[in-house]
Order: sequence, then structure tokens, then C-alpha cells
Amino acid sequence: MTSNPLATNVSESSTETASLLQAKNLGYSVAQDESPLVIIRNLNLNIHSGEQLAILGPSGAGKSTLLALLAGLDTPTEGELLWRGKPFSTLDEDARAAIRAQEVGFIFQSFQLLPELSALENVMLPLELKGDPKAKQQASEWLAKVGLSQRAKHRPSQLSGGEQQRVAIARAFVAQPQVLFADEPTGNLDEENGHKVADLLFELKANTAQAMTLILVTHDRQLAQRCQRILQLEAGQLVAETST
Ligand SMILES: Nc1ncnc2c1ncn2[C@@H]1O[C@H](COP(=O)(O)OP(=O)(O)OP(=O)(O)O)[C@@H](O)[C@H]1O
Ligand SMILES: [Mg+2]
Repeated sequence: MTSNPLATNVSESSTETASLLQAKNLGYSVAQDESPLVIIRNLNLNIHSGEQLAILGPSGAGKSTLLALLAGLDTPTEGELLWRGKPFSTLDEDARAAIRAQEVGFIFQSFQLLPELSALENVMLPLELKGDPKAKQQASEWLAKVGLSQRAKHRPSQLSGGEQQRVAIARAFVAQPQVLFADEPTGNLDEENGHKVADLLFELKANTAQAMTLILVTHDRQLAQRCQRILQLEAGQLVAETST
């Protein structure tokens, strides 16, 4: 073993299977009065299709920022992100938007459902963006899978936190994305509902036919243990990786 197992990982695995997402010397900083505020620094990471990866780290470590960079929602200020070996930065905004619409799903701590839409309409959205004519039927099926068929017409404000997150999970899975990003999906829930949501997430993932990649940010070590790889992020740097 070398002193930097993360760097070794990147070079070794790139020769094995093709990587889905690769971060190369990724950095993100924002302008400040004197010197820039560095949020992510010199980060190397290689993620393969079908992997389940958890990112653990203290508040302010840069976990949400890293997720936004990996998902192409934000642009790194240093280094680059490769999507299936292609630099994300060389894709134009239309191509990036297409990747996000077709291949990426999100679950957030704060659910982020659209308040004016019913539960069913929220789940239909990703399919409607893709122009899927069976959006309503498939969304109904996914609402049933998360146990909320009876609440299809209800708006988010009429649902409990756990129920809203189940709708958000259905919305994330409905388009069968290649990569599912989850940023503290149980962070706003009590222990019981947190467990229910986590169980649901892993159960649905296990039952998807394709190799869906899961990238999960959490404070919860028990939840992280359900992933094959656990990365520790501190002050914008990956400081450790363990396999379960
Ligand atoms: N646009 C920005 N401008 C200034 N500072 C920012 C910006 N975005 C993020 N930060 C700072 O970067 C650091 C990392 O933020 P980030 O939200 O990624 O942390 P986190 O690990 O997700 O924390 P938490 O566990 O609390 O969600 C924080 O100190 C935050 O204040
Ligand atoms: Mg965060």
C-alpha cells in the first residue's frame, strides 16, 4: 500500500472497468475579500457503475458541494470531472441538461417537492421532462411502491415529512436513472421514519433491474455501512476510504 490509498484506487480501477464518474484533482473555491475560500481541494475519485458509495463528514466539510459537482449542477474551479470518460466541461449546457434529465436522480434532505403539485404530479415530472407518454401510469406505479397510492392527489403540505420523502424517492426512481444522488435523505426525519426511508431506498435500489449507482451523503454511520464504499470528507479533502 502506498501512503495515499485514494490515489492508488483511481489509477488501479481505471484500467479495470470503465468508470462512470471520475474526479481528477477536483477543486472548488469561491471568491473572498483577500484569498479565495477553498471548499473542495485536490480531490480524486473514481466511481464505477452499480457501486454504492457513502460520503461521511462533519458539517461544513463540503459534502453537498461535492455532490453538486459530481452531478454536474455546479462547475469545478480546479481540475475536472469525467462522465463515462468524457470531460464534463467539454459538453455544452444542452448535453449536460440531457445527462441530468436522463441519467441522474436526486433525493434531498429537505425533500424539495414542488408545493403546487400533487404527489402524483411531482412523481410524473421527470418522465414529463423526457416526453414519456406513460408518465401518469408509471408515476402511479411508483407511488404504489412507496406505499402512497392513497395520497396521490395530496399536495406536499398535506403530507408528513416521511411521506414527502417517500414521494421524493418515487420521483428519483421513476425515470430509472443511472446515478442516484442522495444528500442526507434521512436528515430531517425522526429515527423511525429515517429507518423506514433508508430501508425503502435500499430495497428499491436492490430491486432495480439495471446497475444503479448510489452516491449517498449522510451523518449516519449505520446508514453509510449499508454502502460498499465509505469515504470520509474533511475540510474539502478525502481523508479515508473504507470498504464494507
Ligand atoms: N457559494 C458559497 N459561497 C460561500 N461559501 C460557500 C458556498 N457554498 C458553500 N460554502 C461553504 O462551503 C462549506 C461547505 O459547504 P457544504 O454545504 O458543502 O457542507 P456540508 O458538508 O454539506 O455541510 P452540512 O453537513 O452542514 O450539510 C461551508 O463552510 C459553506 O459555508
Ligand atoms: Mg450538506
